Amino acid sequence: MKIPYAEPYKIKMVEPIRISSRHEREEWISNSGFNLFNLKSEQVYIDLLTDSGTGAMSDRQWSAIMSGDESYAGSSSYYKLKDKIHDLTGFEYILPTHQGRAAENVLFSAKVKENDIIPGNAHFDTTKGHIEFRKAKAIDCTIAEAYDTELIDPFKGNLDLEKLESVLKNNPRENIPMIIVTITCNTTGGQPVSMQNMKDVYSLAGKYGIKVFFDSARFAENAYFIKIREKGYKNTSIKEIVREMFRYADGMTMSSKKDGIVNIGGFIAFREKEWYNAATTFNIMFEGYLTYGGMAGRDMNALAQGLSEGTEFEYLESRIRQVAYLGEQLTKNQIPVQQPFGGHAIFVNASKFLYKVPREEFPGQTLAVELYLEAGVRAAEIGAIMADRDPVTRKNRYPELELVRLAIPRRVFTNNHMDVVVAALTNIYNRRNKIQRGYKIIREAPILRHFTVELDRI
Ligand code: F0G
Repeated sequence: MKIPYAEPYKIKMVEPIRISSRHEREEWISNSGFNLFNLKSEQVYIDLLTDSGTGAMSDRQWSAIMSGDESYAGSSSYYKLKDKIHDLTGFEYILPTHQGRAAENVLFSAKVKENDIIPGNAHFDTTKGHIEFRKAKAIDCTIAEAYDTELIDPFKGNLDLEKLESVLKNNPRENIPMIIVTITCNTTGGQPVSMQNMKDVYSLAGKYGIKVFFDSARFAENAYFIKIREKGYKNTSIKEIVREMFRYADGMTMSSKKDGIVNIGGFIAFREKEWYNAATTFNIMFEGYLTYGGMAGRDMNALAQGLSEGTEFEYLESRIRQVAYLGEQLTKNQIPVQQPFGGHAIFVNASKFLYKVPREEFPGQTLAVELYLEAGVRAAEIGAIMADRDPVTRKNRYPELELVRLAIPRRVFTNNHMDVVVAALTNIYNRRNKIQRGYKIIREAPILRHFTVELDRI
């Protein structure tokens, strides 16, 4: 008999979770304005809202916490983290920040001005938010294949080089402070960017004298996909792949809450001292002194350890296999999900699933609420609500895809939990014909509205 696959860790500490009744959930979600962000965590059974900051730290990370150096300046924890990042990426200059969007805030404060243009592959919402907040523009140059959820393409995070070049060619050089490549690309479904594409983007950028930054929240998962899917990398270690990837960038922003496997933290890393210097003042103003930037010494220690573990093949294999397990079970039950499965999440195609709910009534949000009501599972809408209004016309923006994201926290749930999610979605799928109406917005913020929006049933 073939020995089956099992996780490369055992569980040392557990946290109880409780299943509620449908009646309770009806009341809670209605009191929350049908916004899943407004629920209390005790009102959720299986929380797949995000994989950000929700992972389980290892015993080694917890023990690293005990030896954190809390000095205001020059903490040994900072140097431990700096050495680890340098070792992994080759970048010399590091600024810690309290999380990923803080890294964006600091970098863009230094480098982005009104009317600037920042091409990239489907920028994440905080990235786009920080760009638009500065009256600059994020231009999506992702390959068209990414928006066909059924198409199997190994690197749906890739940038379309022609689209990118036309942006570079048709805009003044001084209005393009950087290109941002998001690895993996969260917005198109946790899809990876190939090494070849990174190389090509970097060389194109070089031709126009423009810097490339990687939004690197899930860089290790991206490296795993390169190893598994890209020709020539089968026998290359994850750490070697990571090192090569970052050769095709001038710097990175990082939300350490993902592949750093910590609950909070971020950083910016630069190849050039000049860019680092430009960002330091903003780091001191918004985040903290240069050697802690919003992080406790203990947290920098846990992150240094997390970055080591997060770039081990065995860990990545168990992580990405679990995501794929959920995707396979859903596919078996006919549920339309983004193919191939992403690194951190399964994305359900909500407009295909709830095909009777009009786009203006937010099928993504409608499905996410249904899933919560069915089994207490919390997912996230990645659709028209998250896409915000156009900053100029103030009209609702309808992105190419209306998705519901089932994001899997790292090392937290078992496949039994995944089976609950599969059963819940299957039940809804079986009665999808009866779901015809969605939601209307009652109240919303001018930017990043999905966090606080209030809705009502139509
Ligand atoms: N970039 C990407 C690709 C992200 O996915 C996120 C966060 C950020 C930047 C911002 O980082 O949260 O540390 O400030 N994504 C989370 C998510 C929130 O649920 O996907 P942050």
